[in-house]
Amino acid sequence: MTMAEGSQLPLLPGFIPQSQRFCCLRPGSARKLLLALRVASLAATRAVAFGSARANVVNLVSFGERMSSAQKNRVSFVGRPVWAEVSLSALEFNLRSIRAYVNPPGEKRKAPRKILSIVKGNGYGHGGPQVAKALEKAGSEWFGVTCTAEGIEVRKAGVRRPVLVLTGFWPGEEKRLLDNDLTAAITRCEQLALLERAASRRRAKRASVPFHLKIDSGMNRLGIAPADVDCFARQLAKSPHLRLDGVFTHFASSEVFEPAPHG
Ligand SMILES: Cc1ncc(COP(=O)(O)O)c(C=O)c1O
Repeated sequence: MTMAEGSQLPLLPGFIPQSQRFCCLRPGSARKLLLALRVASLAATRAVAFGSARANVVNLVSFGERMSSAQKNRVSFVGRPVWAEVSLSALEFNLRSIRAYVNPPGEKRKAPRKILSIVKGNGYGHGGPQVAKALEKAGSEWFGVTCTAEGIEVRKAGVRRPVLVLTGFWPGEEKRLLDNDLTAAITRCEQLALLERAASRRRAKRASVPFHLKIDSGMNRLGIAPADVDCFARQLAKSPHLRLDGVFTHFASSEVFEPAPHG
């Protein structure tokens, strides 16, 4: 049984009936209770995003168990206490559904698309490290977190597969990334020089350090803009200890699944 503290502003119902604990890729309240899985084809620039579970406000999260009296005693009554049960079998079901969606049976591809599960913000309030551990067991190839602190929590939970730190890093944070085997996202040109310096100082220099490039494709939150591409390319040419392993973007309208009208 693992417990995680969440925010103090509950949005969720106090108790989730058994009938609502399982969810899949269909609309409904149960769906919002579970982790959003966002899927990226890591080898290509194409990324597929799935519905975001923004129900990130819970006081307690349990994995597949009902609240015992000991747990009830630990509930904080600051704000409105909320109990959420996360179904691991539903998480696995969702992962399988997403895998089938991104790798349609009729499609001819040399390598199947991989899945990167976003477990940022404590898994949107549902226990990021625990969910990552469960999804790793179920076959998720990658994990996405906001910052190094979250990545370290995921590592501490025992996750061994690659963890991408989606929002870049602050100057001085590079060694923490490398020491914890977290994959950096480059969101600004000048970060390359910092990462290169940290990579060149590693004791074990056998392999180059992989990183991903985040492109701003219209959300205007984070990422290299078209005007920064020259700077990025020049800096990359001066970075022998780094290796560009992936390119990704955050869709400006990630919740819209209908095809965009063509003008
Ligand atoms: C490509 C991509 N997908 C998903 C996410 C998850 O963030 P959000 O919940 O804000 O969509 C991020 C965050 O940086 C991201 O870069």
